[in-house]
Amino acid sequence: MVEPIKKSTKEDREKWIKDAKYNLFNLKSEQVFVDLLTDSGTGAMSDRQWSELMLGDESYAGASSYYKMKAAIKTILGFDYFLPTHQGRAAENVLFSTMVKEGDIVPGNSHFDTTKGHIEIRKATAIDCTIDEAFNTTAIHPFKGNVDINKLEKVLQDYPKERIPFIIVTITNNTAGGQPVSMQNLKDVRTLADRFKLKVIFDSARFAENAYFIKIREEGYADKTIKEIVKEMFTYADAMTMSSKKDAIVNMGGFIAMRSEKLFKEASVFNILYEGFITYGGMSGRDMNALAQGLNEATEFDFLDTRIKQVAYLGNKLLEYGVPLQVPIGGHAIFINALTFLPHIAREEFPAQILAIELYKEAGVRGVEIGAIMADRDPVTRENRFPDLELVRLAIPRRTYTNNHMDYVAAALKNVFDRRDSITRGVKILNEAPVLRHFTVELEKL
Ligand code: F0G
Repeated sequence: MVEPIKKSTKEDREKWIKDAKYNLFNLKSEQVFVDLLTDSGTGAMSDRQWSELMLGDESYAGASSYYKMKAAIKTILGFDYFLPTHQGRAAENVLFSTMVKEGDIVPGNSHFDTTKGHIEIRKATAIDCTIDEAFNTTAIHPFKGNVDINKLEKVLQDYPKERIPFIIVTITNNTAGGQPVSMQNLKDVRTLADRFKLKVIFDSARFAENAYFIKIREEGYADKTIKEIVKEMFTYADAMTMSSKKDAIVNMGGFIAMRSEKLFKEASVFNILYEGFITYGGMSGRDMNALAQGLNEATEFDFLDTRIKQVAYLGNKLLEYGVPLQVPIGGHAIFINALTFLPHIAREEFPAQILAIELYKEAGVRGVEIGAIMADRDPVTRENRFPDLELVRLAIPRRTYTNNHMDYVAAALKNVFDRRDSITRGVKILNEAPVLRHFTVELEKL
């Protein structure tokens, strides 16, 4: 299906973003011309997915749609047990309610904001063990999302086993720039976890994109199909959380999948409490059908090749214009280094946020800040946290925009880049929530 998008004037946008308290989440979608806020739930479903919607079984218990989803998870990902949830963070909520307690330590590679939120709200601590290369946007590394095995080993040695419920590996590593994790690294994490008798969970929102990069970049995988690579990846995990709004190409949905019947039974209690009965858990039957079909399509090489090359098309254009980006270009999005783009803006004035505002004002393109606002305050000291990277992300929805839209976005960003010296001040926070503040923060321009 196609949907219209609406042009606006710079004057319109200046008023709208001011009324939105300079928070791009507060804009109405019709005030946005090209919406690159997220690739989550914003993809276009295929003809076969739409057909599956018509076959949805909405029975409360034991729906055929549940069994369709179960079969897809077993065939494609290899897990025997699963629980549907309404989206990825709900999967985190259910699983972490089962496994994480106060005082725990959860090591991983750049935990996503909701993942970290669900850890910190339980008074546990997320420790980032991503390789150093990820924090240098110009460093070239084929698997910049990797876990640093030495950093991880140190965490496992420093804390007692009882306080580490699991290691979480995010594939691809969204926060570091949609960067993949190599098969070797997944294997190494598994080996280390086995040595310390610990569980490994994959945060799998973009697992298919990760498999694509393994096929393209890692020795020994060029001749394997995406589905074969996916199957192997998950052999190194005990369980996974999934936001199906990404690599299952549905508008809403998620799940937890696991090998252990015991964990399944324990998590079922929280699933029923927070999401719904175990055979629908927050999803409609029709959506479970579309999800099962989406898992199949997202693990086809041609789909991934087209998608990832479109992201690279935009990225390469921006690199030609001299815009500083996280390279190599990742799977689902372009990540602009705001510290290099606007070096004269103090970190306390949130340079990535002002850059996202300026891009919106320039051309109605909506991106998102992945920097100090998103990083929240330290839960103990309540001081602002300034992460190593201060980025603006332009996420590309799946099967939605054409390369003509990418040209438009690139030209808009070039215009902002050319006048970057005229952007002299950032923003100040007026109001903020105690966690996940970036969604609702209210700002003032300095
Ligand atoms: N894990 C990762 C790696 C994610 O990127 C997201 C969502 C989630 C978990 C949570 O899933 O949204 O279905 O509850 N990322 C979106 C984004 C919101 O824009 O990157 P959810």
